[in-house]
Amino acid sequence: MKHLPLPRLDRHPDLRPYLLRYCRIREGEIWDDPVGLHRVGCIDAADARQVAALMGDERAALAIHDPPYNLVAFEQRAIEGYIAWCERWVAATRQALLPDSSLYVWLGADQTAGLQPLPDFMIMMRRTPFRPRSYITMRNQRGYGTQHNWMAVRQELLYYVVGEPTFNIEAEYTDIPKILRGYYKKDVNGKATENIERGKSEHIRAGNVWVDIQQVFYRLEENVSGCYAQKPLKSCERIIRASSGREDVVLDLFGHSGSTLIAAEQLGRRCYTSDIDPVYCEIMIRRIERLRATGRTGWQNSNPFEDECETDGELRQMLGMSAPDKLSSG
Ligand SMILES: C[S@@+](CC[C@H](N)C(=O)[O-])C[C@H]1O[C@@H](n2cnc3c(N)ncnc32)[C@H](O)[C@@H]1O
Repeated sequence: MKHLPLPRLDRHPDLRPYLLRYCRIREGEIWDDPVGLHRVGCIDAADARQVAALMGDERAALAIHDPPYNLVAFEQRAIEGYIAWCERWVAATRQALLPDSSLYVWLGADQTAGLQPLPDFMIMMRRTPFRPRSYITMRNQRGYGTQHNWMAVRQELLYYVVGEPTFNIEAEYTDIPKILRGYYKKDVNGKATENIERGKSEHIRAGNVWVDIQQVFYRLEENVSGCYAQKPLKSCERIIRASSGREDVVLDLFGHSGSTLIAAEQLGRRCYTSDIDPVYCEIMIRRIERLRATGRTGWQNSNPFEDECETDGELRQMLGMSAPDKLSSG
């Protein structure tokens, strides 16, 4: 087995020029899937014209966005500037969606900076046509702050809608067995029954706290080394199954490692996705090509540029100089 992880690319900007040589699309360009299903655009999510070009005549039934949490090009913006930027990509997203559609947004609350930007974003969303439907928390396995604070293990996911979109939660069960009895018995045909007897499954229904999803780390097949904010495929699959139908278009303007794209492919949906950075666009394209060629969802110990690492001495030398230090975080 190859052991060739890339370090986190956000911490090693020195690697970019070496990887850029191998990127198929540049700013403003769109990769059309040869199989005719997906699109990957190297575009700015806040530029409505570029988002419209990505969509063409199509409209999405579902958008899943995971924007940088107030860290754009490695510089922290004042919260007002960050929210004004969010308003622009939310407006561009609205234009890309069908009249009945769903928008999910992953966003954090920085406990060392007034808990921004989560509450500021929620308040801004009240000025848009989107209605909030739920506020989901996903639990990470790795956390920080155990010595001096409660361990921070949460990832927040906001769920908004316009119109009356699809919501198929009936089939959404976790892998967690039902081990507790319900508080209340209910009469069914004159017989007092436990919750467990009335439910359709031996497992717990998915609610708005997700504790059954494994955070991505280097031992998982789906790991894409070099990426630093990869969401688990299982979380993308849950959202896509609940809030879209087969062959709907799913939109993700902040694609990064391409988790939404891979989950959409596996569930028979089309995915239109983008990233402002050509390196992440190339990673997404390579990830879908690899899935189709090998059935694998990521690179585990290797990396999307593994072939070039073998043939390009300069790149190999660069990698030798940079100690691999990736541990995925949201
Ligand atoms: C938090 S990551 C998304 C992670 C993704 N959900 C995954 O599972 O891999 C955010 C991504 O947004 C990209 N990005 C930042 N600003 C952007 C913009 N204005 N338009 C499009 N993409 C942007 C970054 O390059 C980064 O790859």
